[in-house]
Amino acid sequence: MSQLQKRWMVVILAVSIVCLTFSLGVRQSVLSVDAPTQLPQQKLIALTFDDGPRRSTTTRLLDGLAERGVKATFFLIGRQIADNADVVERMDREGHQIGIHTFDHVQLTDLNQTDFDAQVESTRTLLKDLLGHNDFLLRPPYGKWDEGVKKRAGCPIILWSIDPEDWDDKNTDRVVNMVVNQARDGGIILLHDIYPESVDAALQIVDKLHAQGYYFCTIDQLFAARGLSLDPGEVYWNAYP
Ligand code: NI
Repeated sequence: MSQLQKRWMVVILAVSIVCLTFSLGVRQSVLSVDAPTQLPQQKLIALTFDDGPRRSTTTRLLDGLAERGVKATFFLIGRQIADNADVVERMDREGHQIGIHTFDHVQLTDLNQTDFDAQVESTRTLLKDLLGHNDFLLRPPYGKWDEGVKKRAGCPIILWSIDPEDWDDKNTDRVVNMVVNQARDGGIILLHDIYPESVDAALQIVDKLHAQGYYFCTIDQLFAARGLSLDPGEVYWNAYP
């Protein structure tokens, strides 16, 4: 091998090492972005909030969740989006998941296509225009669904496994105790971020379940971590292991 050939061999070897190192680095960063499948092997649970946004309470909740590094899922009322656009943008920016809870908080069963679209598609369009993506879940008000709702949803339908009925007596202690007692790996908690007492309860629930080793995640993260797919028009209550 000539001196020139040897020199080229060294150059080719050096370039190969640089390329290999770079591609491994890229692969690693792709994996870390793909967080849902990389969640720690621990108990998972999802906090979901209906009927917002409401500027005062939702903002305080977002502050508390941010302090605790917790991601949640918010099912929004369409008619409350315009006045709270910055709050919704903040949710999205801070990694929370967003869903549709109809435009006027109406029961979706027995609606014709036009009325269904006025409730669901209109809200989806508002969110799409505001946030620049179109991957919103649906939670039908009162948890009422039928074959028509499934057919028209256009996205997964998310119900819940733990409902303390926080709207009933707005009793923070009762709500906290009930949710903590019913907490289970893969559960979905239903609360309403329009009541100050529910915001207090949510943050206490986070602290108590953190102490029990739970990890709070969005609906997408919860199902991805369990290897479960979320399909349009299908109804989901939990992601129990
Ligand atoms: Ni509701």
